Amino acid sequence: MRLYQASLLDNRQVRQDVHLLELAAPALAQAVRPGQYCMVCCADAGSFDPLLRRPFFIHSVEGEHCRILLQVRGRGTRWLAKRPVGEELNILGPLGQGWRLPARAKTLLLVAEGFGIVSLALLAQRASEQGLEVTLVQQVAQAQEGYPPALLPIEVEYHLVISDRNTDRGNGTGDKTGQQRTLLTLLGDYLGWADAVCLGVSRETALQLYQRFEDLRQPGFAQVVVLQPLVCGIGTCLACALETAHGPRLICQDGPIFDLGVLARG
Ligand SMILES: Cc1cc2nc3c(=O)[nH]c(=O)nc-3n(C[C@H](O)[C@H](O)[C@H](O)COP(=O)(O)OP(=O)(O)OC[C@H]3O[C@@H](n4cnc5c(N)ncnc54)[C@H](O)[C@@H]3O)c2cc1C
Ligand code: FES
Repeated sequence: MRLYQASLLDNRQVRQDVHLLELAAPALAQAVRPGQYCMVCCADAGSFDPLLRRPFFIHSVEGEHCRILLQVRGRGTRWLAKRPVGEELNILGPLGQGWRLPARAKTLLLVAEGFGIVSLALLAQRASEQGLEVTLVQQVAQAQEGYPPALLPIEVEYHLVISDRNTDRGNGTGDKTGQQRTLLTLLGDYLGWADAVCLGVSRETALQLYQRFEDLRQPGFAQVVVLQPLVCGIGTCLACALETAHGPRLICQDGPIFDLGVLARG
């Protein structure tokens, strides 16, 4: 973990209230692993308001540049979305434990609900670069909440499930059949294919999937991200303690990625 001053190279709005920030951060780009995050100071220089840093995943890495995909939710993210190019951001990271893939894995199934996809983006990039076959299934409430396909590596097969209409649409790299399939059908189809599964979904959904699919109960097969507001992000305040099958664990230090079975049996 290190403290960085990272210069903002680009701030591009990709849809309403979603921005892609590009930062010059060579050491962070080299150190970060998929699923790790950083804590970003979201206050003007010399100001302590808001006091707490906000957590963000590194969305993608290119050379010495790191990108963050930012969804505006409240004060901190609104401040960040307005930063002009050239501004220096104060960043602490990388933090937490990332996704851990079995060494033998050749096929990877990623499952996201809504903006939970940000936890999986760097994993999709790195896994594709390493030659794994990657399929990403994202469930959203409305079509416009779908992930901008241009942000995905071209090799990734992407399925968008729109929960209010139960339709599945390919984006040019994925399903082009126009078949109507739900998230559960798609998972049923792909679980037998996957060597590992990474879930960027809510805890409730993860537990439902764990109950529903026996495959997900195989030890070491599935992991899940646990997202909730973090106070310090560095294991000091103990506000993020979570009960697991291995006893209490800190989301910020031991997570935010957990083995699904260890979480579900907690
Ligand atoms: C490990 C981790 C990685 C994250 N990565 C990203 C990322 O890459 N891109 C991104 O846009 N966001 C990410 N987030 C969420 C982001 O940190 C929050 O949206 C941000 O902290 C909100 O700050 P704010 O000041 O804008 O809003 P606040 O005023 O602090 O909160 C606005 C509302 O959002 C809710 N909220 C805040 N954080 C969360 C959360 N984690 N889960 C659910 N509800 C929350 C609050 O309870 C409140 O209702 C991540 C969160 C975590 C824990
Ligand atoms: S957020 Fe403070 S200990 Fe985890």
